[in-house]
Amino acid sequence: RRYQVGYFIGSLSSTSINRILSQALIRLAPSDLEFTEIPIGHLPLYSQDYDTDFPPEARGLKEAISRSDAVLFVTPEYNRSIPGALKNAIDWASRPWGQNSFHHIPAGVIGASVGAIGTAVAQQSLRAVLSFCNARQMTSPEAYITYSPERFKDDGEVIDETTAQFLKDYMQEFRDHVVRVLTVLPRP
Ligand code: FNR
Repeated sequence: RRYQVGYFIGSLSSTSINRILSQALIRLAPSDLEFTEIPIGHLPLYSQDYDTDFPPEARGLKEAISRSDAVLFVTPEYNRSIPGALKNAIDWASRPWGQNSFHHIPAGVIGASVGAIGTAVAQQSLRAVLSFCNARQMTSPEAYITYSPERFKDDGEVIDETTAQFLKDYMQEFRDHVVRVLTVLPRP
């Protein structure tokens, strides 16, 4: 069978290095994974006032997650945490109370920055949020990617062989994690 992976890009930037990283991951992933981006940039700011009647954008978000066998977060680090737009999307998806879209979903976390820490602190922050949302996270391997144009072409081709092999291994492990989780916790 094939596995549907919904991926979130934590950046709204038109020149996002995390979007480039997502394209690299898709290129290097095992062939039984199929990828669909779950967009976050059009969502209004979440408020509990919406819980009785979610707007179409937020319904679409929750439907996209429910169609996914797994989710993958590819995110920058903003001020040592998660970008607000991504947190907003997660807050929407986690609600209304009792209808948390992330319950038991297989999840992966990865990110790129131009700095040496490679989004490590943001990923810790994201992992805490996803833990509370009860997602089944892949905890190993971790992937803190330092972006440079010597490693990645704009279309996601990975020029550097060591980086390409690392990302390929990461996606193989992610695939195995997804299969393992779905064996015990099939998606509805
Ligand atoms: C950053 N950047 C950044 N980088 C980092 O490694 N740690 C950080 O805490 C921050 N903080 C931060 C805050 C804000 C508001 C911005 C705009 C940027 C730099 C960041 O890694 C860089 O801009 C990346 O290019 C962002 O990823 P995308 O949007 O290109 O995918």
